[in-house]
Amino acid sequence: MQRLLIISNRLPVTVEKRKRGLRFEPSIGGLVTGLKSFHKSHNSAWIGWPGINLERIKEEEPDVEARLLSESCYPVFLSQQDIEDYYHGFCNKTIWPLFHYYPSYTVYSKDLWEAYERINEVFADAVAEVAEQGDIIWIHDYHLMLLPNLVRERLPEATVGFFLHIPFPSFEIFRLLPWREQILEGLLGADLIGFHTYDYVQHFLNSVHRLLGYEDTMGQIISADRIIKADVFPMGIDYEEYSSYARDWRVQREIGKLRGKLGNYKIILSIDRMDYTKGIPQRLEAFSLFLERNPQYREKLVLFLVVVPSRTKVEHYAALKKQIDELVGAINGKYGSIGFTPIQYVYRSLPFHSLIALYNMADVALITPLRDGMNLISKEYIATKTDGKGVLILSEMAGAAKELGEAIIINVNNQEEIVRALEEALLMPEEEQIEHNRIMQKRLQRYNVTRWADDFIDRLLYTRKLQGEMEAKALNHETKIKLVSDFQESNQRLILLDYDGTLVPFAGKPEGARPSDEIIKLLGELTRSPKNEVVLISGRDKDTMEKWFGGLSAGLVAEHGVWTKEKGKEWEMMETLSNDWKGEVRPILELHVDRTPGSFVEEKEFSLAWHYRKAGHRLGDMRARELANDLLNLTANLNLQVLEGSKVVEVKIAGVNKGRAALQWISERAWDFILAIGDDLTDEDVFKVLPATAWSIKVRFSASAARFNLGSPSQVRALLKEMIAGIKV
Ligand code: G6P
Repeated sequence: MQRLLIISNRLPVTVEKRKRGLRFEPSIGGLVTGLKSFHKSHNSAWIGWPGINLERIKEEEPDVEARLLSESCYPVFLSQQDIEDYYHGFCNKTIWPLFHYYPSYTVYSKDLWEAYERINEVFADAVAEVAEQGDIIWIHDYHLMLLPNLVRERLPEATVGFFLHIPFPSFEIFRLLPWREQILEGLLGADLIGFHTYDYVQHFLNSVHRLLGYEDTMGQIISADRIIKADVFPMGIDYEEYSSYARDWRVQREIGKLRGKLGNYKIILSIDRMDYTKGIPQRLEAFSLFLERNPQYREKLVLFLVVVPSRTKVEHYAALKKQIDELVGAINGKYGSIGFTPIQYVYRSLPFHSLIALYNMADVALITPLRDGMNLISKEYIATKTDGKGVLILSEMAGAAKELGEAIIINVNNQEEIVRALEEALLMPEEEQIEHNRIMQKRLQRYNVTRWADDFIDRLLYTRKLQGEMEAKALNHETKIKLVSDFQESNQRLILLDYDGTLVPFAGKPEGARPSDEIIKLLGELTRSPKNEVVLISGRDKDTMEKWFGGLSAGLVAEHGVWTKEKGKEWEMMETLSNDWKGEVRPILELHVDRTPGSFVEEKEFSLAWHYRKAGHRLGDMRARELANDLLNLTANLNLQVLEGSKVVEVKIAGVNKGRAALQWISERAWDFILAIGDDLTDEDVFKVLPATAWSIKVRFSASAARFNLGSPSQVRALLKEMIAGIKV
């Protein structure tokens, strides 16, 4: 089995220095809690920060290192200043608040950004040192978003996955970040990028498209030269560990002890890291309102509030602590009595057996984050319910809400709703509780953390395979040499070239893609040799083709084959065509223009085209599909054809296509060299009519009948230049 290298900011072990020496404690937080059991049971090594500053353990550094290594952990040591600027700074004052939709808490500082860049480099060096050939490198979370690309630079052949454990915000929020492009470029160094929910994936893809211009097909991003996949992997828990430990004697003993202290009060449980995203004050306020409205529950129920200290050096966390302390004090003062305290408040992390005991005893778990990437606590609570009894109240803003639909799902900003949810939970019949929990348990048991990680790694390896297939079709150096030498050794050469997207990139408006002097010169040189027959096969109208290319000694095809013009001759229509249909089709296209800002209709002599390259990516694609559907119904008995090109839907008379036009030239002579290059679906008709010996190239990487792929129009132009000049081997 290939070794797995896990890389995250925090190691699963945190080193602490006490008076009596060093202590090695388990780290907290969803990421390590979820991943550590996977780490223990697999052939893996973990690279990360051991949670202490280097200055504090200067002398003990070798011991710390040795101890961590015994658990397959490779420490990345950070100085006090690094921790300040990178961890407390850019990670937790910039990315964390922004990605959780707290722009007003977000600090934008160049110094902090530079620290983030620098520490990502430090991690990259550590990875390069530890990684061995064949390792699978799996990078985690928002602290290390530049790392995938930095690793790719150092180890170009490595298999690199990335998983984000927090939300990826919508474009409107993400765009606020001054370093947004760098972050995306950093992430795109990975082969597979995973998120907890479908929404986060969509937000990420949308940002990639809007900021870097890369489009995706079903989560597959085609960058200049690679396929990168973005996909959903909702993280699971080690279900067996939680559910079986609930039966352990240590837990049972703890339950006995707690019952002794709490009597027969009903228990509402709340557990979180101290974080403003968790909605703890809102929860406390709702609890207070609940007690006010339901006096019958006073002195019959307690809220067990466990808050685990976290990032205490960041100002907003310290302020939150104060707010919670005050709220707890106020509520306990108002509803408590001698011998009874409605909120049992614990500000520290609990040992595992106490945690499981509390989960197991709690009648209700009240988990109400304002935003949460996933929230594994809700899953852990369900897993420990061995008798199936207990009710989960969960905020719809937690990623977990997508999977735990049988819980009572609430909007955390709606206090009334939380109060109602508490009332409902406390009155819910046991059979109903059991029924809901059993369904969720089955789901969590099936998609547990091992399945989650296996699934991610499977998809990662699959993406590598796809890249391999793509590379096999890419026109590599050797094949290019063969193509050029075939070209030079032949005497009767036919060169069929599409224009937009093939010789030039797309422009916002069709007129914008006018050929530059460089292109006219290139085509001029190509057409100069009497051995070459060049044909430009385009979907453009014939007047534009004539205006732009009429001066060249080349064949021209306009409107996808409606018009053809042989070198030195006049334009000819392929067959007599009628335009009666346009009156019926035009209003449908115009309706789509009104509904899709940025799109427009182009009228050609025998076709109508709806362009949407300037419309929003998702909206444009969605509308294009709708339009193509509407048109297919309408055109069924009109002998029309609907073509879906690159960001264009075009309607024209059926049976006329670029392939048919190309045949006019192909069948003209016994060519000893044929080359066709195109980029979209309409060029596939050309590829399909070529003889088997012809060279065919599709621009950009996706399924095609062409034999080879090239990445971009600039690579096409470079190839044509090499054909003219001869290649230097
Ligand atoms: C969240 C993050 C983790 C982080 C954890 C604890 O779960 O996604 O990456 O480790 O919180 O936060 P801390 O700042 O203590 O590492």
